[in-house]
Amino acid sequence: MIVAIDGPSGAGKSTVAKAVAKELGFSCLDTGAMYRAIAWRALQDGVALDDDEALGQVSRRYDISFGHVEGDPVPRRVFIGDVEVTDAIRTAEIDRAVSPVSAAPSVRAALLDQQRRIGGAGNYVVEGRDIGTVVFPDAAVKVFLTASDEERAHRRVRQNVDRGIGSIDYEEVLADLRRRDAADSSRATAPLRAAEDAVRIDSTSHYIEEVIDQICELAREKM
Ligand code: C5P
Repeated sequence: MIVAIDGPSGAGKSTVAKAVAKELGFSCLDTGAMYRAIAWRALQDGVALDDDEALGQVSRRYDISFGHVEGDPVPRRVFIGDVEVTDAIRTAEIDRAVSPVSAAPSVRAALLDQQRRIGGAGNYVVEGRDIGTVVFPDAAVKVFLTASDEERAHRRVRQNVDRGIGSIDYEEVLADLRRRDAADSSRATAPLRAAEDAVRIDSTSHYIEEVIDQICELAREKM
């Protein structure tokens, strides 16, 4: 069974997806981390971010995998090939590089295969931008999670402080979120949009626990 959670950057998808997976006893797949890992590898290899052919080669050459921190059922560690990139893919440099990389049709085709293979192996909560529309159009539950731009930027600033990455400028974060959403929504291949049969949830004025409960309820109705 697949629970698909799509939405723009910073809407709370990761937090919600991991908590829902924990609650339901499902595995969890963060597809954004996969695009970030390809962007990281492409920068390391000096691949031009507008070179669809070369980006495709990178995506096909390396497998992306996830690992657990001891005692935590949610896979938070990210690897590309043998290299762990858990922290390296969360920088501002990768935030900028990931939009052109994820717009490359060859990258999307390669990751689509990997995502279907991983998610098809069991019960999964899968989060991204095109999960309900393209990757798993038959998902049992589809959620499109949003929040206001300002709320999403505030959350991202708080998250960085909590993660010990340091403080970042609110206005810069807001501008970056809007830039990324515009790029994700306007690209030709698998743009960010809600599936017609997705349940839309706006998390701006709801506690995250309420959103988690609501999605678990939707999933239990289908079990
Ligand atoms: O979710 P996260 O912000 O980590 O995703 C990083 C980027 O990866 C997004 O801005 C988007 O460009 C891309 N992405 C995508 N399709 C997905 C998941 C993420 O294009 N399914």
